Amino acid sequence: MACDAPIGVFDSGLGGISVVREIRRDMPDERVLYFGDSANAPYGTKTPGQVRALSDAIVERFVRRGVKAVVIACNTATSASVNELRERYDIPIIGMEPALKVACDRGHGRRQRVIVAATPLTLRERKFAALMDRFKADHTIFPEPCPDLVSIVEDGGLDDHGRVMATLHGYFDRYDLHAIDAVVLGCTHFVFYRDYFRELLPDSAAVIDGNEGTVRHLGVVLESLGRLAPEGAGGGVELANSDRSARIAELSRTLLARPR
Ligand code: DGL
Repeated sequence: MACDAPIGVFDSGLGGISVVREIRRDMPDERVLYFGDSANAPYGTKTPGQVRALSDAIVERFVRRGVKAVVIACNTATSASVNELRERYDIPIIGMEPALKVACDRGHGRRQRVIVAATPLTLRERKFAALMDRFKADHTIFPEPCPDLVSIVEDGGLDDHGRVMATLHGYFDRYDLHAIDAVVLGCTHFVFYRDYFRELLPDSAAVIDGNEGTVRHLGVVLESLGRLAPEGAGGGVELANSDRSARIAELSRTLLARPR
């Protein structure tokens, strides 16, 4: 497999663009083919079987395009399908999971109180139960499903301050936020809300996402296989979506250009 082959990155919709943004920043020589499945979003309220079938079809397309690796830029699709995809395809498949470890490690041995915001499917799946099992004896973890945060991004409502803050208050007002150490953004759509979470939370609460760690892991895997793009190659992004409307194309470009 040539090192100048592209990397396939996909999500249920536009959330994975937050991961592409990180790849552009940290690995600017890589070529990225992005596929957002907005016509079928959200995945977070579907069954694992439905999400597996959709993910499989996307990876098959990527393989036909000759990608050197796939990033599942979606916690939900990872929970439902990463094992099957790895069995089926003979290329590196990088998945994502809520960065709970990062949140718990910040306590350096002190019990942390952590909210994990993710989709209903991510929080229901075995993968998340296994992750909770590693940390729940030493930390207090509150899983919080936030499906409306996916639809706001897909609707193009991210700049509607009133709507976003009302939605966040709806999910989080029941917590004593001053007693929370961290909120984990366990869905790639939620990464676009970082500033809103900062507005909601006291300074003492950290806001943590898994994008940086995922991209670092991608780099390590490609390097170990000798498949990093040659330095100076320049790279680039090709944005595709199952919803072919001009609205989604424009929104995708806007999200890619949005500052972190
Ligand atoms: N962006 C996805 C994730 O990381 C899923 C959103 C959805 O379609 O429900 O979990």
